[in-house]
Amino acid sequence: MSYQVIARKYRPAKFADITAQEHVTRTIQNSLRMGRVGHGYIFSGLRGVGKTTAARVFAKALNCQKMMEDPEYLKNVTEPCGECESCRDFDAGTSFNIAEFDAASNNSVDDIRTLRENVRYGPQKGKYRVYIIDEVHMLSIAAFNAFLKTLEEPPPHAIFIFATTELHKIPATIASRCQRFNFKRIPLEDIQSQLQLICDAEHITVDADALQLIGRKAQGSMRDAQSILDQVIAFSAENDHEGSISYEGVAELLNYIDDEQMFAVTDAVAEHNPSKMLDVAQFVIRNGYDEQDFLEKLIEHLRNLLVVQNLSSTRLVERPDAIRERYQHDAGNFSPLSVMQMVDFLLLTQKELKFQFEYQFRFELALLKLIDIVHAVPAAPQLPYQQPQKKKHLTSH
Ligand SMILES: Nc1ncnc2c1ncn2[C@@H]1O[C@H](COP(=O)(O)OP(=O)(O)OP(=O)(O)O)[C@@H](O)[C@H]1O
Ligand SMILES: [Mg+2]
Ligand SMILES: [Zn+2]
Repeated sequence: MSYQVIARKYRPAKFADITAQEHVTRTIQNSLRMGRVGHGYIFSGLRGVGKTTAARVFAKALNCQKMMEDPEYLKNVTEPCGECESCRDFDAGTSFNIAEFDAASNNSVDDIRTLRENVRYGPQKGKYRVYIIDEVHMLSIAAFNAFLKTLEEPPPHAIFIFATTELHKIPATIASRCQRFNFKRIPLEDIQSQLQLICDAEHITVDADALQLIGRKAQGSMRDAQSILDQVIAFSAENDHEGSISYEGVAELLNYIDDEQMFAVTDAVAEHNPSKMLDVAQFVIRNGYDEQDFLEKLIEHLRNLLVVQNLSSTRLVERPDAIRERYQHDAGNFSPLSVMQMVDFLLLTQKELKFQFEYQFRFELALLKLIDIVHAVPAAPQLPYQQPQKKKHLTSH
C-alpha cells in the first residue's frame, strides 16, 4: 500500500470527529434534522482548520441513504452512516454528487460559465449535488458577478459551499446570499490530543511536551500540526530513536530556540548582569539562530510574564509544567510596567534591525539595553510585584 500523509489518512469522516468546530457542525446537523438546508454557505477561517473536511462530511450527510430513509437515525445520530452505497461512493472518492472546484486556478468568467452549465443538471442518484468552491476569494469580480444569478435562483438540488481563508475579499453581494460560518483556530490542547490519538494509532511513543511543541509551532492549524508530525516521525526514525519522539528531537528538528535562553535574558536583566546578556547574544549568533526569530520569541516570553502578572495564574501560558512554575516565580522579578517597556523596545528593535547591515552588533546592543530600560523605570508603588530599588551601576556601552 502506498504511504498516505497523516493529514489525509486522519481526515475526519463524520461531524463528531471534527475537532473544535462544534459551533459549525452542530448548526449544520440541526439544519439537516429540521430539513432546513440552505443553498449557499461560506466557510471561512485559517488554513487547515477543517473547512474542506466539514464541507465533504456535509455533502456526504446530505446524500446518505440511511439519513433519508430512517427518521429515527436522522433525528438521533445525524451523521453520514458510512455504509450505504452513497456514503461508500463518497469515501472512495467516486461520488458524482460532490464537485470540488479550485477558484485559485479556475477563476475566469468562462470557468464560472462552465460551472453554471454543470449546475443545471441534477444528480442521478441521491438528492443533492454539492459544489465546493475552494479559495473563492481568488475569483475575479466578473466571475463573482457571473455567479450571482445562480446563487440567487439555484436549482433545488444544488448547494454551494464557498471556502476561503480571506473572508473580507468576498463581495457583499455574494456573502449576503449565504450562511456564514467562521472556523476557529484550533486550541493547543485539541491539537495536542488529536496528535496523541494519531501517535497511538501509529504505535509511536511520544512525550506530551514534544506534542505541545509541535502544536505550538502549528499555531492553530491542524493540518500544519499533522504535517510537522509527519516530518518529526521521519526524522526520529532516521536517527534510530526506535519510533519514539522526544522533546529534544522535535526542538532540534524545528530549530527551536530553547526557553532556557529566554529566561537567561530576563535573569540577566533582573540580576543587572551585562556579561550574562552578552553570553546569550553570543549563543544566538554562534549557533546561527535568526535574530528576528529570537526577538519574536523573547517578546512572547515577556508576554507570558505579563499574563502571569495580570492573572496571577499560568493557565494562559502554553508551556510544560516545569516552565510554567518558572514563569510563576519570575513574574515577581519585574513590575508590569517595566515588562511592557521591554516589549515596546523590542518591537522597535525588530523594525530597526530589518534595515541594518551590522545587525549582529546591534542585536547585542539591544539586548544590553534591556538592562538599562528596566533599571531606569521609576518606582511605582501601586503596582504589584514591585522590586526593591536596585543600586545603579551600569557599565557604559
Ligand atoms: N477541526 C479538525 N478536526 C480534525 N482534523 C482536522 C481539523 N481541521 C483540519 N484537520 C486535519 O487537517 C487536514 C486538512 O483539513 P482541511 O482540508 O479541512 O483544511 P481547510 O480548512 O480546508 O484548509 P485550507 O484553507 O488550507 O483549504 C484534514 O485532512 C484533517 O486531517
Ligand atoms: Mg480546504
Ligand atoms: Zn450513508
